[in-house]
Amino acid sequence: MNEKIAVCPGSFDPITFGHIDVVERSSKIFDKVIVAILQNTSKESLFTIDERVDLASEALKHIKNVEVKTFSGLLVDAMQEWNSRVAIKGLRAVSDFEYELQMAQMNNKIDGVETFFIATSPKNSFLSSSLVKEVARFNKPVHQLVSENVVKALKEKFS
Ligand code: PNS
Repeated sequence: MNEKIAVCPGSFDPITFGHIDVVERSSKIFDKVIVAILQNTSKESLFTIDERVDLASEALKHIKNVEVKTFSGLLVDAMQEWNSRVAIKGLRAVSDFEYELQMAQMNNKIDGVETFFIATSPKNSFLSSSLVKEVARFNKPVHQLVSENVVKALKEKFS
C-alpha cells in the first residue's frame, strides 16, 4: 500500500493547543503524520530536544497515527528519509503567510516537496509557543493554552 505520510515540522518549544489542533486535523486526512521537531543548535530553546519530544509525545498520545521524530539540517532531507512529500503548516494570520510561502516555495524548488496550509482554528489564532513562555515566565496561568503535562513542565522550568 502507498501510505500517505505528512510531516508537521516546527520547533515545538513547547507544543501548544494550536499545534495539537493542526496535528489532529492532519491526522484525519493522512494515513500517518510525523511531528518533526527541529534540533536547532543555533536557536536558543527553553526545552531540550528530548524534553520537547517527551512533551509532544504525551500531548499527542490520543492520536493513533502520529509519530514524533527529530531532525536537523534541511526539512526536505528528513522528509526524503521518511518517505513523505507533504509538509503541513498552520497559518494563524496574514503575518505568517509571507515567511511560510517563501519557505514552501524553497522546499518545492529544492526537492519537489508540497506544503499544505491549514487555517488554524480562530480560538488559537493568537497562540504561539513564544507567548506561552512569556506568560508562564511571569506566573500567569497557561492551562487554556497548553496541555496539562506542558503546564507542569513550564511551572518546573520557571520555579
Ligand atoms: O516552529 P517554527 O520555529 O516556526 O518552525 C520552523 C521550521 C522548523 C519548520 C523551519 O525553520 C525549518 O523547516 N527548518 C529546517 C531548515 C529548512 O529546511 N529550511 C527551509 C529551506 S532553506
